[in-house]
Amino acid sequence: MHAQATASQPATLSRSRIPILPRRPKWSFADLKQRFFFGGNSLKSAFIVALSGSFPPGEKEFIQSVRLFMNQVRDPKLISDVQAFIAQEGQHSLQHRLLNEAFDRLGYAATLISEQFEVIEEDWARERSDADRLAVTVVMEHITAVMAHFALTRPEEFDPLPESLRELLLWHAIEEIEHKSVAFDVYEECVGDRNLLRRWLLQQMILFPLGTREFQRMLLTKLGAKPTWKERAEMARYLFGPGGLIVSVLPHYLALLKPGFHPWDVDDSQLVEEWKDHLQAALS
Ligand SMILES: [Fe+2]
Ligand SMILES: [Fe+2]
Repeated sequence: MHAQATASQPATLSRSRIPILPRRPKWSFADLKQRFFFGGNSLKSAFIVALSGSFPPGEKEFIQSVRLFMNQVRDPKLISDVQAFIAQEGQHSLQHRLLNEAFDRLGYAATLISEQFEVIEEDWARERSDADRLAVTVVMEHITAVMAHFALTRPEEFDPLPESLRELLLWHAIEEIEHKSVAFDVYEECVGDRNLLRRWLLQQMILFPLGTREFQRMLLTKLGAKPTWKERAEMARYLFGPGGLIVSVLPHYLALLKPGFHPWDVDDSQLVEEWKDHLQAALS
């Protein structure tokens, strides 16, 4: 479903609503001192480390899968969106690698987990068609944008975190929303098979949380940490309690199944504007 040309606005395949601005923030992570930095909870802390460990290889695959189709994209606006998307994802990957090294200094095997996931990703990509790889990127970009929306609308969840980590996660959330339709618009132009997207969504909705939980378990095993029942209850509440992460994001994941869905059906442009103001100092 492509945009129509008007006298004032030429036809474009890009349906991005807001500017996609690559930024180069800097954090020293000097305030990341406590091993269990997320309110003293080992499970919640390892959950964040597991996510951070998965980002650099995940984002590398997002970039590569979109690049596979670049020679088929003709629309100048969509080409410039893709360039900005690649610049943002490359910077996310870099910042999470630096964060993972800070986690390593606290005793986590974050970089090791990341390297192991990279091998898994490369093996997976080698056996898949270009269309499958882009479809999974579209699905993961959708999942990430929904999680980013949750992060920006429930920022109090991150209050217990050290400031640098909190800022990094909110910066990542802003940029995920800015570029949330880029891979989708490339897919619409070059592949367009909605059923393929639906199949991969149903798989990734299961595989992504299971994979994150396995990384979380591996990280804590390597630390020799045994979560208490209180920590387990807090983790369960964080994910499944009223307003919890999983119960909040699941219905929005399913929106991708609807005929005619587009990521900007959810217009969170104002939300991004507000957070750009809040984080102005950290991002300038
Ligand atoms: Fe990212
Ligand atoms: Fe992304």
